[in-house]
Order: sequence, then C-alpha cells, then structure tokens
Amino acid sequence: MNMKSENTMTGQEMVALCKKHTLFSWSATNAVNPIPWSKAEGIYFWDTEGKRYTDLSSQLVCTNLGYGNQHVIDAIKKQVDGIAFAGPNMATQIRAEVSELLAKYTPGDLNTFFYTPAGAEANENAIKLAKQYTGRQKIMVRYRSYHGATAGAVTLTGDPRRWPAEPSIPGVIRVFDPYEYRCTFNANGCEGCSMPCVAHIEETIQYEGPNNIAAFIIETVTGTNGVIIPPTGYLKAVRELCTKYGIMMVCDEVMVGLGRTGKWFTVDHWDVVPDMITMAKGLTSAYLPLGCVAMSDKIAAHFSDNVFVGGLTYNAHPMCLAAAKAVLEVLVAEDLIGNSERMGKVMAGLMADLKEKHPSVGDVRSLGLFGAFELVKNRQTKEMLAPFNGTSEPMNKLGAYLKQNGISTMIHWNKLFCCPPLTITEKQLRETFAILDEGLKITDQAVEG
Ligand SMILES: Cc1ncc(COP(=O)(O)O)c(C=O)c1O
Repeated sequence: MNMKSENTMTGQEMVALCKKHTLFSWSATNAVNPIPWSKAEGIYFWDTEGKRYTDLSSQLVCTNLGYGNQHVIDAIKKQVDGIAFAGPNMATQIRAEVSELLAKYTPGDLNTFFYTPAGAEANENAIKLAKQYTGRQKIMVRYRSYHGATAGAVTLTGDPRRWPAEPSIPGVIRVFDPYEYRCTFNANGCEGCSMPCVAHIEETIQYEGPNNIAAFIIETVTGTNGVIIPPTGYLKAVRELCTKYGIMMVCDEVMVGLGRTGKWFTVDHWDVVPDMITMAKGLTSAYLPLGCVAMSDKIAAHFSDNVFVGGLTYNAHPMCLAAAKAVLEVLVAEDLIGNSERMGKVMAGLMADLKEKHPSVGDVRSLGLFGAFELVKNRQTKEMLAPFNGTSEPMNKLGAYLKQNGISTMIHWNKLFCCPPLTITEKQLRETFAILDEGLKITDQAVEG
C-alpha cells in the first residue's frame, strides 16, 4: 500500500501467473482482465506501465483513507515488532485500547465488540449472538442485500449471489426493500407515503411467528445492490417493530460504517441505535483484514454469565487491531468524516448535474461519499440499461471508457458507483466527474424513446 513497487515481474507475467494459479472473486478466470499494480498513493494507483487510475470505488468501498497512510503503516510496523499475534483468549493492550476507543464512536450502548477476520464472519457471528441471546431460530433479511460469501452470510444475502449456495442455512425469511426509485408498494415515491414497506415487514413477522425470529439484519444503506437510502422514518419504524417483538435489530455497516456516509455510523443519520452493528472494510481501511460485531450492553451482559458458543483463531488479531486503532486516529486527526460530509455534498451536486445533462441517468443517490448512478434505457419506463443480474453492451462500453481514461470503479448491473477514498479533494472530484461526464455520452446513445 505504499509508494514503492517491489515488483520484479512485468505486468504480463503477474497477470499470467495470477490467472494460472488463482481464482478471482465472482468471475470466470478467462473473463478477467486484472490491472497489474505497481504502486499506490492517496486516491490513485498505477499499473506496471505507469498508467495512473483514480480509485473511484475505494476498491470494494474499503480503502477509506486512501493508499500509503504513514500513520497506519507505522502502527502496523510497530505492532509486528511487538506482539504480532496472541491467541483469541489472551488479553493484549491493543485489544483493550482499540475497543475502548471504538466504544466512543459507536452509537448508544454498543460498547462491546467481537472481532472477526472480515465482514461475512461479522454477520455470521451476529446471527449466533442473536440466536443464543433470544433462544429463537429464524433470521429476517431483505431481498436487495449482500451480507458476505460464507454459508450463513450468503444465505442472508438477498441478491443472486445467494442462488448457487442454496438451500444453505435454514430459517431465513425475506422481505422487500424501501427502494424509492423502484418501490414495490408506491410508485409515487416516499414523500407523504405511509410506508407500506414497514407494514409489510410487520405482516411478515406475524406470519412467521414473532417468537421465532431472532434478528432482522439490514444494510443501513444498501451497498452493492445500488446505494438504496431508506426514507426518513424507516429506520426508526424498524427499530420500533424490533423492540415490539423482541427481535434483535442488526445493522450491517460493513460498507457504510466508519465515516463513509459522513457520520461515524450510518444509523447516526436517523438517530437509531440497533442492538448490533457489524462492520469491517473501513475499520482498517483495508490495510489489514478485520471485521467486528458491536453489541449492546444488554447482549454483552447476557454473555457475562452465558457461554458465547462461537470462536475464531484470529479473533482480535493484534496486527489488525493495530491497523484499526491507527485508522480511528487518522479519521479524527484529519477530520475525514467531516470531509466525507463536505465532499459528499459536492459530489451530490455533481451527480445531480450529470443527471440533468444525460438522459441515460435515471436516478442518482448518495449519502456522504457513498453514491451510485442508476442508468436506464428510458426515464419514463425506468427500463434498466443492464438487466437484473446481467450486463449489457452500453454498461460494458462505459466501464471500458472509464478504465481507458484512468478511472477505476465498481459497475454492478446498471449501477455505477462513486465511493472514493474519504481523503478526496474537491479538485480531484471535479476532475473525475469531467471524465464521467464524457463517459455517460456512451450510455446516452443507448437511450430509447
Ligand atoms: C454490506 C456488506 N456486508 C458484508 C460484506 C462482506 O464483507 P467481506 O467481503 O469482508 O466478508 C460486504 C462486502 O462487500 C458488504 O458490502
């Protein structure tokens, strides 16, 4: 993650050997065309030919501090010279320090943490905690969601990445999402709406038996399924439903926690305190892998006297915790959450301008530096520019144009993501959006009607 390349291979050699000996996530090896990296700094990385890319998606929305942050690098180096590893049932100073610090930033009484290797395992352990705490078996989730690729987490996932893993773990119930642009319940949008999306959740709870449901797990703002921001009042209403029926409200903030949306945690936008928050990615800004379940005092108290039946060899790994502590320090010292909020406003303006200008932009959504364009063939019918669970020539061409012009970002079906590192400046945002402006001319050509 620092400036200097240690490559002794050419880019071609790297790609050939990586493709020969490794599988790539969610891909057929012959279809991948990975960029061979040479170095990275700030919001940029370079390929082995010296071409620079702006990282508009912070890789998988995880490199929140950008590349080469010296404070984090130094903290990791210091930790490896000290206690590089201690077993999960040992006490270490770094475990004590980072947990005390994190508790200052997590909302309400979420003061106790169970650390995991990454996001999926955080959700796996949230399920375990909820089931053991409530004595109930079922878990409620939403269709437009992603919660990780391990057996349980991929079952919680509503999107098609779940399909090949099915039937997978039993007892998962699904409800529809509060997706204003394509609402299942009200085509007129959220303004003045009585939120039938919430009534539908309560009806589902009745049919499934309230006393059977251990947890309702939601992405506070849905990520890969399209930056779906719930309407004002939704999260509070879900909180009330969960309280009414004794269901643990678990907010998956693996993507949106730790400043991504301009607050420490995204639930803070609506002043809601869930029973648990899961996090990963931004927790270490991807300098090392780490996930975490934050739980309320009452859940933690339960496990003071009852055994938590769950464990991981790398629970509370000191190296990863050292990275997390340094990241928390940098977020504060450099006011990056404030920057996410301020630059988020600039980015929202730039996105709105492009929506105005380009007929292929059906909708733009963002909160802080978490944004996505939703591209359509026709603004009236809202026909997607790539189908559900598919790709299309215009979306592929847009991706190729951006790559050619030095922009790296996530494209998922008909969505283009704008989630740069939280360190981005206004100048950098404007430079990036000038390229997006040109790129969207390609998708405009596919507009019909
Ligand atoms: C919302 C959400 N939850 C969970 C995960 C899984 O995290 P990991 O890939 O670290 O296991 C992801 C990953 O993208 C995610 O976006």
